[in-house]
Amino acid sequence: MSYNLLKGKRGIIFGPLDEKSIAWKVAERAWEEGAEFTISNTPTAIRFGTVKELAEKTGSVILPADATNVKELENVFQSSMEILGGKIDFMLHSIGMSMNVRKGRRYDDLDYNYFVKTMDISAISFHKMLQVARKLDAFNEWGSVVALSYVAAQRTLFRYNDMADAKAALESIARSFGYIYGRDRKIRVNTISQSPTLTTAGSGVKGIDNLIDFTERMSPLGNATADECADYCITLFSDLTRKVTMQNLYHDGGFSNMGMSFSAMAVYNRSLDCPDCIEPEEPWDD
Ligand SMILES: NC(=O)c1ccc[n+]([C@@H]2O[C@H](COP(=O)([O-])OP(=O)(O)OC[C@H]3O[C@@H](n4cnc5c(N)ncnc54)[C@H](O)[C@@H]3O)[C@@H](O)[C@H]2O)c1
Repeated sequence: MSYNLLKGKRGIIFGPLDEKSIAWKVAERAWEEGAEFTISNTPTAIRFGTVKELAEKTGSVILPADATNVKELENVFQSSMEILGGKIDFMLHSIGMSMNVRKGRRYDDLDYNYFVKTMDISAISFHKMLQVARKLDAFNEWGSVVALSYVAAQRTLFRYNDMADAKAALESIARSFGYIYGRDRKIRVNTISQSPTLTTAGSGVKGIDNLIDFTERMSPLGNATADECADYCITLFSDLTRKVTMQNLYHDGGFSNMGMSFSAMAVYNRSLDCPDCIEPEEPWDD
């Protein structure tokens, strides 16, 4: 359903790779809500992914850029303003990558070249975008910027590895720039901390299927899907959330405030094979 929440707004969406990508869903929803935007990803991702289909569907121009490269980011912002005919109202950072995760390096045996790359691609790129945009005065007043994060920034999750450090830095950058942009230009900067989701990046974390089952059992509302994440992003890009800034906003069905649930405990008890562990028959029995 469309509410025209983004009618007349111009945006840049970084990170759609294929139809599973959270950024892809955001682009589809932004288009439904009347926005005009450009799309960006690396030249390799554009060549091997299916981004062109998304561009055709939404009438968007694709602007290639490695998000760690300041010159290429300058080009994205300048070209976007030319193509869209004015300053930018919203921007999505939906980018993450760790070679340590991909290569199965443990946290106590990190490759430091990979670690630096993880930080640059997954966190510092957000700083680079915000700094480039500020120098070019690319954002309109009352604009909105969102980056996607994960609860591993606050809590240790087995196998999330150096991406946890990247997400902690990403959220900190959102707060630091949120102050500057809010103070000077009334522009808000937030992160959304999303449930684990089966995307290309998500599938890079070994055992993601079991993690998704665990968080589904732990979350009173269940895991948030990529489509639901897109809906949330749209509200933050809209004028209905003008005083929300410098926040890390959990979009996880309640997972981040849970300790143990009936459903997760039931599985745990079974796995213990323990005759004294009596399973409650109904959630409200305990
Ligand atoms: N999938 C999950 O479980 C989950 C949960 C919470 C947060 N997130 C975050 O959501 C965001 C989007 O990930 P996704 O799950 O949609 O996966 P995805 O694989 O679809 O998207 C990741 C994107 O990052 C891009 N990218 C990688 N290196 C880049 C670079 N140097 N320059 C520019 N782009 C680059 C990839 O090409 C890809 O399009 C990421 O920040 C991810 O950490 C994902």
